[in-house]
Formats: sequence, structure tokens, C-alpha cells
Amino acid sequence: MGTMNGTGQGESGSVRHRYEEVAARLGAMIANGTYRPGERVPSVRGLSRQLRVSINTVLQSYAHLENAGLIEAKPQSGYYVRASLSTPEGEAQKPAAAYHPPSDVVLGEEPLRVMHALADSSLVPLGRGAPNPDLLPAEKLNRMLAVESRRFRSQSLAYGSAQGLRKLRLQIAKRAITAGCTLEPEEIVITSGCVEAVTLALQAACRPGDTVAIASPVYYTFLNSIQWMGLKVLEIPATPGEGMSLDVLAYAIEQTPIRACLTIANFNNPLGSVMPDEKKRELVRLLARHDIPLIEDDVYGDLAFGPARPSATKAYDEKGLVLYCSSFSKTLAPGYRVGWIVPGRFRQRIEYLKSLFNIATATPPQLAIAEFLANGGYDHHLRTLRRIYARQVGQVRDAICRSFPAGTRVSRPDGGFVLWVEMPEEVDAMRLFEEALREGIGIAPGPLFTTGNRFGNCIRVSAAFWSERIERALATLGELAHAMT
Ligand SMILES: Cc1ncc(COP(=O)(O)O)c(C=O)c1O
Repeated sequence: MGTMNGTGQGESGSVRHRYEEVAARLGAMIANGTYRPGERVPSVRGLSRQLRVSINTVLQSYAHLENAGLIEAKPQSGYYVRASLSTPEGEAQKPAAAYHPPSDVVLGEEPLRVMHALADSSLVPLGRGAPNPDLLPAEKLNRMLAVESRRFRSQSLAYGSAQGLRKLRLQIAKRAITAGCTLEPEEIVITSGCVEAVTLALQAACRPGDTVAIASPVYYTFLNSIQWMGLKVLEIPATPGEGMSLDVLAYAIEQTPIRACLTIANFNNPLGSVMPDEKKRELVRLLARHDIPLIEDDVYGDLAFGPARPSATKAYDEKGLVLYCSSFSKTLAPGYRVGWIVPGRFRQRIEYLKSLFNIATATPPQLAIAEFLANGGYDHHLRTLRRIYARQVGQVRDAICRSFPAGTRVSRPDGGFVLWVEMPEEVDAMRLFEEALREGIGIAPGPLFTTGNRFGNCIRVSAAFWSERIERALATLGELAHAMT
């Protein structure tokens, strides 16, 4: 970098501040790979001397680059290029090239074997999507379960209605405003968790042989559900930045009949992506033009690290075509199995299917959660959870950046607790999974998240936990990955 004198000219010919010039230069060096993800950029003092600009100018330019998400400050250490995993612009493919026709889901024994192995509780828990039980309000919730079951003694033992407890639906309706939705309790059906909600939605919207479009990589449980129902899957490429490509989806709609689209628009599992509001609106409009139902899984939406949670695609639904699904599994109690669906125009069908398969969701956990939402300090609990997960996501990322081979890219989610790690091509994620297993470490290998032959160098890592044991395990994973390069 040479010295800088005077004030520069912006692209439009407007006069640029010096700090913008400095930021632009450093930004260009990050873009062209001179400074790589995870690498330290010059010290403030050093750059100030080198460019003959004031310390203040460098600080301003670093603040500018931080806001743009290009660098980050690490206390006592300096500024580093963020190891984010954004898809470089140049890699954006033409829709026709990125389009893969629908295919039957034929999962062999392999994914089941992997999932079974990951369920082993003695493993270092980097491979599972479960929340950290130590962060859940077990005592308070279990106390409420006992108190409410006593208070509503006969009701708690009887069959409930297929639609679920009204007082719980009322609490859910009240909270929906945080996701940009105005709901009435009557629009909601309580389910036994979010997966049941999504499964009911697929059953309500599709018949065997139909095609479901879904962002790829795909949360593997949905691949299993789709296979079980005899549906075809159409994988639409997605990026950790913005989720599903709408260009490819629009192209796919022109190529083949699509019966439903399934999205995890907020803090996607496994990418961590959040679809920007404008894109959510566009997605809902695009599908509505073709009368295609959108099944939305928003199970991570409440785990936003920022001050507000992102909106749901349901917020843009004008035709009742969005079937919104969520649960309290990531925030309160996965074992209580309480979720819900807002099925729009499919409500009667959903209630019918719910009663057919399950009669009704268990009443006592509904009573407890309704009470927790009304009087248990749910918002306070969420704030704590978000703060801890935000910190841990940073810790796990940093540990990966320290120990994995050069060229590794890690997602930077703004909520939830899963990280998507793309390693150099030579690293075989399935082999890494096997070798990690031998070291007592669980990781979810990328090939689990697709029916195609993709993501062979990717893994999903959970940041739900943090401890020295986790840190050591990440260092071991880094060594194992290094050995493959
Ligand atoms: C995207 C997504 N949906 C649903 C679930 C499970 O939800 P539930 O336990 O409420 O059925 C998970 C759990 O990992 C998930 O990642």
C-alpha cells in the first residue's frame, strides 16, 4: 500500500473522505485475497505510519469496514478479516446451470447410520442440532407443569381438541407480532413439535409423486420425510448469506410442476442464512403467482442475536398460501414436543390430519408452556439464550479459524447455533466424520444434507455448547482435516 495524500475522488466523481479511501483500499485487498479470511490486517499504528494518515482516520476506516462486515476487532489482538462464508459474486451461476431436475429421494443405509451414530450421548456434541439443556429453564417449566396439571386436573388427563389448547394459541398469537404476523388464536393448530407441523403441511399440500422445492443443503430430517411420503425433491441452491436462489426457483417453476416449496428462511439449518425481508416478500409473491403453497419452518426465528427477530415469510402472505410451522424445541423444551402450525387456507385439512394421526397434542406440556409464556419471563429467558449462543457461535468460529486448514470458510450466522464449514476440496467430510468418531467427536457431514453428490467437503458444527472439551475437539478436528490436505 502506498502513501495517501489529499482527498480522493469517489467512483461517481464525488469527493471521498480519507477514511473512505483507506477503507476502499483495504476492502479491495480483502476482495482480491491479499488478506485472507481469518488473517490479521495491519495494526492501526502501522497503517497510519505506512499511509501517512492520522490514527483517527485509520480507526474510522476500520469502523467502516467492520460495519460492512469485512473485518472484526478482537480484544487485545487487533483487527482480522472476517472468516465469513459468503458466496463470491463470480460464483453465481446462471439459473439453467444451477438447476437440477426433481429426483426421488433414495436414502440408503448411510444417512441412517450417521444419524444413529450422532445420537450417541457420549460423543462431543458438535454434530447434533439439539439445544443445550443447561440453558433451558427446566426447573421453572417443570414446576409449572406440576402446578398447572394440578390446577386443571381433569382437563389435563382428558383428550384435548385437535386444534390444541386455546390459552396456548392465544399466547402464540400475541407473540406472532414479533415476526411481523397479525394472528388470531383460531388460525393456529398446536402440534407435537415442528417436524410434525412440517409433515402435516407436506401431507396437506402434496400427493405421492409430487415435487417439493427446497433450499439445498437440506435439513436431513426433511429428506427422510419427503422420501417416506413418496415425494420428489427439487434442490434449489442456497447461500449462507441470503438462502435460496429465487432466480433458480423461478426457472424451476417454468421447467417442472412444483406442488410445494419448503423453506427455513430464518437461521437456516444447516447454513445459518436469513433471507432478507425483500426477498421473503418476493418469494411469497413468486409462489402465489403460481398458486404454490410455501411451507415455512421458523423454529430458530426466536434465537436472533440482534435486538429484533427477523420477520416470517408468513408476514407477506396475502392468499393464505403460507403454512407457517414452529415449536418451542429450540428455546424451551424439545422433550415437551409442543409446536404449532398456522396453515392459512389449509386449516381444515391440517386439523383433520392432526386428529387422524395423533388425535391431539398432549395437554400437560401445553398448559405448562402457556403459563410460561404468560407469566414465566419468556422474553427475559430468550435474551439470555441469545446472548450465550451469540458468544458461543463466535467462540466455535474462532476455534475453527485457528485450527482448520487455510481456505476453510465458515458461515457467520446472526442467530441459532449451527455453523456450516466449507473446507478445501481435498478434505473428505465423510472420512473426517469417521475419523472424528474414533476420537469420540460427533460432526454432521455435508453429504447428509443432499440427495445429490454435493457438499463432500462440508460439515455442520453445533455451537450449542462451549467448554475446554469442545475447544480441544475442534483442535483435533482441525488436525484431522489438515492431514487430508
Ligand atoms: C429446521 C428444524 N426444524 C425442526 C426441528 C425439530 O423441531 P421439533 O423438535 O420441534 O420437531 C429441527 C431440529 O433440529 C430443525 O433444525
